This record gives sequence, structure tokens and C-alpha cells, in this order.
Amino acid sequence: MGRHIVKIATGSFVFMLGLWALSGVLWANALSVSSPDEKITVRLSLEGARLSYQVTREGAPVIGRSRLGLRLKNAPHLEGEFIVASSVTKTVDETWTQPWGEVKDVRNHYRELRAVLQEEAGLKRQMIVTFRVYNDGLGFRYELPAQENLGAVEIMAELTEFNVIDPATAWWTPAREWNRYEYLYDKTPLGDVSHAHTPLTLRTDKELHISIHEAALVDYAAMTLKRGRGQVMVADLTPRSDGIKVKATAPFHSPWRTLQISEDAGGLITSNLILNLNEPNKLGDVSWVEIGKYVGIWWEMHLGVATWESGPIHGATTARTKRYIDFAADHGFTGVLVEGWNIGWDDDWYNNGDIFRFTEAYKDFDITALSDYARSKGVRLIGHHETSGGISNYEAQLGAALDYYQKLGVAAIKTGYVADGGETVYRETDGRVRYEWHDSQAMVNHYQKVVEEAAKRQIAINTHEPIKDTGLRRTYPNWVAREGARGQEYNAWGEPGNNPEHTAILPFTRMLSGPMDFTPGIFDLLFEKEKPDNRIPTTLAKQLALYVVLYSPIQMAADLPENYEARMAPFQFIKDVPTDWELTKVLNGEIGEYVTIVRKDRASADWYLGSLTNEVARSLDISLDFLEDGVTYVAQIYRDGPNADWQTDPYDMVIEEKRVTRGDKMTLKLATSGGQGIRFTPVEK
Ligand code: NOJ
Ligand code: CA
Repeated sequence: MGRHIVKIATGSFVFMLGLWALSGVLWANALSVSSPDEKITVRLSLEGARLSYQVTREGAPVIGRSRLGLRLKNAPHLEGEFIVASSVTKTVDETWTQPWGEVKDVRNHYRELRAVLQEEAGLKRQMIVTFRVYNDGLGFRYELPAQENLGAVEIMAELTEFNVIDPATAWWTPAREWNRYEYLYDKTPLGDVSHAHTPLTLRTDKELHISIHEAALVDYAAMTLKRGRGQVMVADLTPRSDGIKVKATAPFHSPWRTLQISEDAGGLITSNLILNLNEPNKLGDVSWVEIGKYVGIWWEMHLGVATWESGPIHGATTARTKRYIDFAADHGFTGVLVEGWNIGWDDDWYNNGDIFRFTEAYKDFDITALSDYARSKGVRLIGHHETSGGISNYEAQLGAALDYYQKLGVAAIKTGYVADGGETVYRETDGRVRYEWHDSQAMVNHYQKVVEEAAKRQIAINTHEPIKDTGLRRTYPNWVAREGARGQEYNAWGEPGNNPEHTAILPFTRMLSGPMDFTPGIFDLLFEKEKPDNRIPTTLAKQLALYVVLYSPIQMAADLPENYEARMAPFQFIKDVPTDWELTKVLNGEIGEYVTIVRKDRASADWYLGSLTNEVARSLDISLDFLEDGVTYVAQIYRDGPNADWQTDPYDMVIEEKRVTRGDKMTLKLATSGGQGIRFTPVEK
């Protein structure tokens, strides 16, 4: 055997040939593992000085040779000249149940290759690379085990590459340009992407859909992607304020780097790969996690007719909150969010990160009386903590702030990290200030801390301006939702607001990471009096479709009560639509163009459909074969009317009922930036 032939360490390391024979294959200098259906194969190569991997699907290369490795500060890099100390493959096929979710039961079926690599010479340090290959993609991660020659490390770069073979189109938002994820998407050739956030979703010229992301981002920096040569995307970890990417002590492991792969775009949406790569629930009994629909004192501030700050048009008053509590109780909502209730919003709240008081209410907001009143009506207040990126100020009050809300019976808090200076602020006790990106290791740990502290008090968290979602809701089911993309708020004041295709891109990009608190359901689409230069860029029916298309276990009915009272017929759909599902199916969809999703309610036999389109009006033929056999359903249809057009007649809508069965077909007629919502209820026998 020459130098570049199989290198297996002897001595204390075990070469598990028997296990390899099960499903892993050993080539010269390479290990491989395939998905349970044998379609996707990953090959790990130790050839030469560079560790690398490649991915094929049905024999065709999808990801060409791509580097792996870590560069360390004050220590030799871990990037090549390894031998295989040991290697194990195994198959896992299990099913677990989500406490809440877009599907109830999740099958976790993969083959794993865990390769313990050891430096051939020098320090002989070990690094483990583990691949899990699913029928719908794969994940891999680095692990540095406890060992003599490696303890505390400072990672300066992760060398991971994704060398996409076929020419591809990418839908992407720029990374580290501004402070977070709130951008309209760009659609460009992959070769024109400069620096992108993940999920980065691609369609190749062979019509294969690929999304690159990560799973279980814990105590590590977020991975963004910078373009290298050609179509090679290179991991670029967000640095800490001191320039170091990750500080860690062995044993530790990186998050999973993920590739979701699907022939049809909808297959990306129904893939559970990200969730499966997260650890199981660590919180035990989470029956206290409250999900459902909420209203709140919110949109009026975005329209500018009320203020977060105190004064003549303060939004968070006792009287107005009572009005919302009554409205919620009358229409079956479980929560009332109130923003601007606490001291700190006065003057320029964007810069009040050191001022916010999280246990002190403004005088015109009687928080104790209101939480009692809400309870008497079967509703709860939803808490709000805007930090304006003042992390030290928030962390100093965090325990007391959560205790305070717990005492009041608040079961969910929306947090916020608006920091338009670009970064969040830590003020050390010695007065020094440091600035951190929202997705650096320091902030990843901050968000995590808030969720864990909240869990101790049985409080759920909905993070705005969050760290991106990487499926941690599996491990911490009280992390119910996040923002993490441009939400509805941009339609009130964005220059420009969201475009008609935005919500047709989100399902295939941002939503692959997890639930989004988009805050749909604005009924006064033009708000001409309040903001004549802005508007909602959809038809009314499309606002209803969003409740099904953009999954979240909490959904806001975001408009003012008076705007719902003016249109009670379509409001019925928002009242009816659940937020917890047993099954989800994607009937059709193309990224940025249209999508139709059906979901089965967990609490009843009802199905719901949401379908929406970009600025192109279209007819979509669907089959109702997702319905149960032998059952007749009443379909309550909320569709764009014959004259509907998002620019000229956004309100034109038809609400009608039909009897349907599994054998039926339907044609969904969607207006420009239109949509449709349908509730299917079994006919009572
Ligand atoms: C930004 C959030 O996304 C929005 O929902 C909230 O109203 C403001 N911050 C104020 O906290
Ligand atoms: Ca926001």
C-alpha cells in the first residue's frame, strides 16, 4: 500500500470492518455512506493535505469536492494529513412526536458515518466528522473530542465548502451588511452571490432544488456563505467582537451543516431534516407551552396612529388594552400582545437600550388589573421586551423581568432586538463597550439563555430580530416562533414595502428554518388615512392564505379590531384556522411564483388549504385526494373575486360553500398577488 492508499491507525484504535460492511464503503483514502433509499451518497476523502467530501445523487455529482476543516488560533490547523483512526456506520429509523408543529409524527430515518480522524504526525490530534444521510438530504458536523493535545480552542475559520456542480439560480439575502435578516430576496445566478445568509436555496439547471443551512446552532457562530471560485460557497462564521469566530473547549461539536435536496420545490418544505438533526426535547413536560392566535396593540404603532412612547397617543393604555381583551375573548383569541407598556420608550427608543425597565409600567397601563381582567375573560396578556440591542441592560434585569411576568400569569413573551447601529451592545461593569453581531457566538448564547431562563418560569418566547432558526424548537419547545425575515411590518413603513413575490419566496427559504411570526391578516389593505404612501401588496384573500402557508404555532391577527369588525365575513377564516397541525402537504409550488399547502388540524378532522401567487394571476388545478376516503366535506372557500387585482381591486373576494370529496378536482383561480383559503369540514352525518 502506497502512502495515499488506505491509512488505518493501529494500536488502541479499532478498525470496525464488520460495521463498514453494513453500508459504508471504503475506497482508497475515502469513506462513504448512502441514504436509506441509496439515492444520495456522501464520500469523505483524506487524499493529500486537504480533507474533503462530495455528494452524488443517483450517481450524478451534486456537490463536487469540497473542503472540510477548522483553522485555529495559536495552534496548527485541522485541515488535512489525517488518517482514519476508526469509523462506524449505523442506520437509525425512529419516529418522534412534536408537542406542536406542522406535522405531529416525524420520521427520523438516516444512515450515519462517524469517522474518527487523527493527524498522521505532529500533535496527532483527533477530529471526528459525522455525516447523517437522509432520503431528502444530509447533515454533517465536526467534533473535537477530549484529548491531551487539544483543550481550549479559538476557531478563526471553518473551511467547509459547498461546491455546487450544476449551474444554479439562488434566492438569497445579504449577510453582515446591516444587522439582521430583514431584506427582500435577490434572485441571481449562484455565481453572482457575494455573501449570503442561510437557508440559501438554489435550483439547478437540472431542476434539482437544494437548500444549504445549519441545524442546532448552540454555543457557536452562525454560518454565513461567501462565494469562492465559480459556484463554490464557503462557510464564513460570524466573528465575535474580538474577531475570533468561536471559543470552545474540547469536547465540543459544531452545529450540523445541512443540505436539503429535492426534485420538486415543495419537497424542501416538507423535509424534516433540520428538526431531526436537533436534540430531543430537553424540557420534559411542555404542556404549559401555550400556542394559538393572538391580537395586540401593535399595528397602530407601525401605522403611526399610536406611539410606543408615553404621551397623548400612547398605545398601551389600560382602556385600549381592555378593548383588545374584550375583542380577543369575543372572537376566540387566546393572547393579547401589548407593546410600549414599560418605561424606556420615550424619545428615540432605537437608542434606549440602556434605559428600558422591564418591570416598570407606564402610569396609564395598570398591568395587574389588566392581567386579572384578561384572566377573568379566559385570555392572557402576551409580554413584550424590546431591548433595542442593549444586551447588558436586558441580561441584568432578565431574571426579575421573567419573574414579574410569571407572577402576572403571562405565558409568552415577544422579545425584540432592534439595533440599527448594526450590532448589539454589551456594557461591561468597567464601562467598556463591545458590539456584537446578532448572529455571533456571543449573541447565539444570549438568545439561548433567554429561552432557557424563560422555560424555568414556564414562559414561551417569540424572538424578533432573532438569531436565525436552526430547529432548536425540538430541544426547547418553548421557543415557539421568531421573526428573522421581513415581516408584515415593512408594509407599513418600508421604502419599499414587501413586494408581491416576497411571501411566495419565504416558504422555500426562511420558512425552511422554522416557524415565523410574520403577523398576517391586515384587512385595511390601503390605510390611506394613516400612511398614504404605503399599502399591503396583496389581495384580501392572500392575507387569509398566509395563515396556512407561513407556518407558526402562534399567529397574530395583526390588524386593528375595528378593521375586522368592518369585514366580519372573511374574518371568520382567521377565527377558524388552527395553528397546530397533524399533517402538511404541498400540492404545488415554484420558488417566488406560487405555492399551495394543505394542512390537517390536530384537534379535528378539518383540513385547511392556503394558496398564493406572486404578481402573476394564475389558475392552479389541484386534486382533493388528501381528504379522507368516504367522507363528504363542506369546503368554505375564500377566494379572489373575478375583478380582484392587488393594485386595482384588492378587496374583491368571493366566499362560497361547496360539497366535495376525495375524488374531486378543483381549480384555484388566483388574482395578481392573490390567494385563497379553504376550510374543509366533514359533513355531520
Ligand atoms: C421590531 C419588531 O419586529 C416589531 O414587531 C416590534 O413592534 C418593534 N420591533 C418594537 O419592538
Ligand atoms: Ca423586525
